[in-house]
Amino acid sequence: MMPARTRPQLLETIESVRSATAAARDAGRPVALVPTMGALHDGHLAHVERTRELDAFTIVSIFVNPLQFGAGEDFDRYPRTLDADLDALAVAGADAVFAPAVGEMYPDGGARVTVSAGPVGTTFEGRARPGHFDGALTVVAKLFNIVRPDLATFGRKDAQQLFLVERMVRDLDMPVRIEPIETVREPDGLARSSRNRYLSPADRRAALVLPRALEAAQSSADRGIDAVLAAAQSVFSGEEHVDVDYFAVVDPATFTPVPDEFRGHALAIVAARVGATRLIDNASIRLA
Ligand code: PAJ
Repeated sequence: MMPARTRPQLLETIESVRSATAAARDAGRPVALVPTMGALHDGHLAHVERTRELDAFTIVSIFVNPLQFGAGEDFDRYPRTLDADLDALAVAGADAVFAPAVGEMYPDGGARVTVSAGPVGTTFEGRARPGHFDGALTVVAKLFNIVRPDLATFGRKDAQQLFLVERMVRDLDMPVRIEPIETVREPDGLARSSRNRYLSPADRRAALVLPRALEAAQSSADRGIDAVLAAAQSVFSGEEHVDVDYFAVVDPATFTPVPDEFRGHALAIVAARVGATRLIDNASIRLA
């Protein structure tokens, strides 16, 4: 299908981003940044939909950031689909795409001075992927300095990343507003992810235990934390092809596990390996 609109302006250098955003600012428009690693799907496009609602000059960054991948992770085989991404963004109505080469972002091979994600950076996803959040926050800080956006969107799908970006902005007084975006799901409930394309048909079916466990958690939340953990556990026990890394209920204010007496709004988070693919998901629950 032909794109309904013209493609966004493709920017590959930091300098060209600075002129494009200056022009938008001169025209009195707020600048919005949508940071991505490409291989765009409807989940990413929902971010652009939101920034367009806000009538912001929307710049989508597409950069597979080597700093946030560990040894043995999928940096080399991470899907790179720039052409299709530009078509999708033309339809979604993004104004510009910043797709730098690695050498533009890290001219001498990497950053010597980096952002530390602090204690929450070493738990859950950070425990499974050492250095991941330092690398992700470092590139996000760089993108903020390059684009100087008024607002930037981050998906709730990556709840720990969203928590840490909000924490970084607060702790380091970065002048940007973070706009959280709800998780976009497939019709059967699986959260959209660039990594879903790695799933075999059997893995794809098995992966549904993640949203099912979260639904079970939500519907038992009025019986307390033990009931929530038991409900999730019973969903996972029916699926032997899924290797659960963690299922936990955290306080959204601290991203640490809730104590037994916790009441109110909490976040159920899950990570599991399905075949060779690691998937994460989460849902908001209300503990009574
Ligand atoms: P990436 O995985 O490409 O995700 C880009 C943005 O899209 C993130 O904010 C992510 O939370 C959001 N997203 C992913 N799946 C989504 C879904 N199903 N619904 C709604 N939003 C979704 O996250 C990263 O890239 C990188 O770590 C990055 C922030 C770009 C830094 O390199």
